[in-house]
Amino acid sequence: MNYRRLGHTELRVSEYGFGAWGIGGDSYGPVARADALSALTVAEELGCNLVDTAAVYGASEAIIGEFLKGRRDRWIVASKYSFQKEGLEKTLEQQLRRLGTDYIDFYQLHAAPPQTDEVYRRLERLKASGKVRYLGVSLYSEDSIRQVLADDRIDGFQVAFNLVDVQPYRQCQPEIAAAGKGVLIRSSLKSGLLTGKYAPGARFDPQRDHRARDMTADEIDRTLRWLESFRFLEQTEGSLLQAAARYPLAFDSTSSVLLGARNAEQARINFGEIPARPLSPESLQRIEDTQRRLGIGRVNPLRRWAGRLLRTLRG
Ligand SMILES: NC(=O)c1ccc[n+]([C@@H]2O[C@H](COP(=O)([O-])OP(=O)(O)OC[C@H]3O[C@@H](n4cnc5c(N)ncnc54)[C@H](OP(=O)(O)O)[C@@H]3O)[C@@H](O)[C@H]2O)c1
Repeated sequence: MNYRRLGHTELRVSEYGFGAWGIGGDSYGPVARADALSALTVAEELGCNLVDTAAVYGASEAIIGEFLKGRRDRWIVASKYSFQKEGLEKTLEQQLRRLGTDYIDFYQLHAAPPQTDEVYRRLERLKASGKVRYLGVSLYSEDSIRQVLADDRIDGFQVAFNLVDVQPYRQCQPEIAAAGKGVLIRSSLKSGLLTGKYAPGARFDPQRDHRARDMTADEIDRTLRWLESFRFLEQTEGSLLQAAARYPLAFDSTSSVLLGARNAEQARINFGEIPARPLSPESLQRIEDTQRRLGIGRVNPLRRWAGRLLRTLRG
């Protein structure tokens, strides 16, 4: 396992971090507590030192709290405030209790930068108290990235990026690289669709699986059809899963790629089998050519123009 610095912070995070949404049991279906704990144990043995969770990820924080007993100092814990109605301070206290810790290393607003100075003041107070070490935002848009990059009070952000969803991360690359903030990449496997184990027509149970709620059938099928055009990676880079997980690390601005693992076997693959070397320049070129051919990441010039206008008006 290799490690990268999380932006300008003192934290050195493993290139693959443990995405703990899945072990919470309410995103991809129930997970036995023993499986979740084994996944975390295997991840640690293989050098993973970062876990990303949230108060809204089912039982995730409580499971991590159980796991961290006696080993808190080996892990960098990232969690999120999802604007719960109890408010920031009370939510954080509950999270600290569940996680069995006095502090959260990277505390992210879920899922937009603060719009008022009041939120900043309260976050800064939490930072000064030591309960939160660094601040981040889990975000979705180019505008939010730019807002975070321009704000010294925020240490980093989390964004989705993968073979078939490249914006807004790629669009903002020059500015992100120049700002040097910490970046966690989520959804590098696009909720498992890029592992190579599904074929077009795959459907998920809306009662148990967020993919049935968060993605349309068309999006699932289009993703899985597109994936066929990336099959060359199986020859050049081992497997689709390995290539998809490594792809975000081709960007120096990436600090860590979050991978979900719901049992020991997935953890063994995700934290132990993915080669530490970067994707080859030939593979990267073919990925870009394929994305261009499929129209992935094409930015509508009208939208870009409207975004610029909006930013100018906001000053
Ligand atoms: N807004 C936000 O802040 C936000 C949103 C999404 C995600 N995240 C973060 O990003 C993390 C990762 O995203 P994600 O939950 O979408 O997870 P992911 O890692 O992209 O995908 C998880 C899925 O991949 C499958 N999988 C993982 N490893 C596998 C392996 N070795 N072999 C076969 N299948 C494998 C799992 O399959 P099974 O279903 O078969 O177990 C599961 O369905 C989350 O845990 C969370 O920390 C944050």
